Amino acid sequence: MVSSAQDIAGTLLGWYDANARVLPWRSPPGSPPPDPYRVWLSEVMLQQTTVAAVQPYFAAFTARWPSVEALAAADDAEVMSAWAGLGYYARARNLLACARAVAARGGSFPDTEAQLRELPGLGAYTAAAVAAIAFGRRAVVIDANVERVVARLFAIADPLPGARAAIRAAADSITPDARAGDFAQAMMDLGAGICTARSPRCLLCPLAHACRGRTEAERYPVKAPKKAKPQRRGTAFWIERDGAVWLVTRPPQGMLGGMRALPDDGWSARGDGHGAPPAAGEWRAGGQVEHTFTHFQLSLSLSLYSGEASARIGANDGEWWPVNRLEEAGLPTLFVKAARLAVAGRGDD
Ligand code: ADE
Repeated sequence: MVSSAQDIAGTLLGWYDANARVLPWRSPPGSPPPDPYRVWLSEVMLQQTTVAAVQPYFAAFTARWPSVEALAAADDAEVMSAWAGLGYYARARNLLACARAVAARGGSFPDTEAQLRELPGLGAYTAAAVAAIAFGRRAVVIDANVERVVARLFAIADPLPGARAAIRAAADSITPDARAGDFAQAMMDLGAGICTARSPRCLLCPLAHACRGRTEAERYPVKAPKKAKPQRRGTAFWIERDGAVWLVTRPPQGMLGGMRALPDDGWSARGDGHGAPPAAGEWRAGGQVEHTFTHFQLSLSLSLYSGEASARIGANDGEWWPVNRLEEAGLPTLFVKAARLAVAGRGDD
């Protein structure tokens, strides 16, 4: 049966009224929009990250920095450290740049998609999501969940990423003028709970009657074959003295920029780390961790200093951090894995 765009939007909004997920950055369906700061913060956090993973970070950020002005006034290092574990750290640097630009204009976010797009570090997705959810503007909001729902609904057979333009046009055709924020979040909820990547629950789907892909939903979205990620190798160094480990702060630009880290041999800058260890003396192998970044796979060897760690290391740029308080250091996940390995290996001495 062919359904009109109006029927699809109306049916989906009706479903959302009864089934919307209750989330701390949302207001209930049909009610006035939430604080734009909370919408913007949640949308930045939710890119590439699941709702479950974001919730504790969202709670911690909004408790510590309850307004965009408060966040704008925060120390960079504290924000980077609070972001640790969420990944894609460029988002945290962009977050601060954007908060400061909004604070500089008196603390209010612009209320159109085009003006939002002009803020530093605020991309097309976030501009559309904030315009729709925080300001009720009609905007076409497409994340991975929405992409999947639309590809199925319209049986778009071209493979991604080439199909993005067709998916956008199709999403545009069903986006209503009113309740655009609820509509966007309804599409997200449908994708997260019903139109899931694996085992979609088509029998429960409010849009099944209108779905051209429903008899073979798993086929969509069609994806071009993935290229294997290049493999890189590197070494991180664990230097311990009096119950403290030597940590550095990575340069602001580049991989994991501005984050606290174990010293390493330059794998991220050179692709293959061949840099010298940060101290002369005896080193022993401490095992290896695997970590997947967006553009490559890293095998990071851990090298444990077994000499007498001298104060000389302390003359370099870094700090001695108590091992029993490493949780508070805000290490990115790669170095959390390495630190766990080092701490577990200490029992072997
Ligand atoms: N993913 C991205 N934005 C979201 C939102 N507002 N609600 C639920 N999931 C989301």
